Amino acid sequence: MRFDIITVLPGLLESPFAHSILQRAQKKGLAEIVVHNLRDYSTHKQKSVDDYPYGGGSGMVMGIEPFASCIEKLRKEREYDELIFLTPDGETLKQTIANELSSKKNIILLCGHYKGIDQRIRDLFVTREISIGDYVLSGGELPAAVLVDAIVRLLPGVLNDETSALSDSFQGELLDAPVYTRPADWNGHKVPDILLSGHEAKIAEWRYDQALERTRIRRPDLLK
Ligand code: ADE
Repeated sequence: MRFDIITVLPGLLESPFAHSILQRAQKKGLAEIVVHNLRDYSTHKQKSVDDYPYGGGSGMVMGIEPFASCIEKLRKEREYDELIFLTPDGETLKQTIANELSSKKNIILLCGHYKGIDQRIRDLFVTREISIGDYVLSGGELPAAVLVDAIVRLLPGVLNDETSALSDSFQGELLDAPVYTRPADWNGHKVPDILLSGHEAKIAEWRYDQALERTRIRRPDLLK
């Protein structure tokens, strides 16, 4: 699967994709993540990509031209399944959205900044608008990294244990049960006996009960 991310801050996206699962997915050829500097598509001397809003008001607005030429260049090279704009007024990211997007082949992600982007970019090019939560960040770069991570870990072959993405919290309707590792006793704080018992069926039952209880307390909305 290929992601093309369009941003004015490419440096902000270097580290998130250079480690761990995302790095391995790229090395294995399962994910290709290409970051494009929007300023390279500006025709201004200063490489500016924003301008004053028509009608007045505070803040600068990112203009249509650099986005349009970057998108058009990419579209000449391959077909895209979605062109996603990361924005706090988009639909809230859920596991189901990540699942759905993980079946796509090529996706473009637009990262906005300043006061916003010219509405015509959204009207003419964007196929989907996604928010990562009800709070406002300085730009769409961190949300883009979050979205790519949520999708790439679902791609077949990315996780060592193929079942582990399926057993994540939110994949079923329950949150995960608590997990423990050695030592079995840390300063008197003990791991639940059942997990040391070796009794697989009883452990599975305990985990289910714990998951149900945790979901009931933390996220009762998931049980409805
Ligand atoms: N850009 C700024 N804040 C955002 C958010 N919460 N989700 C997606 N994009 C954003």
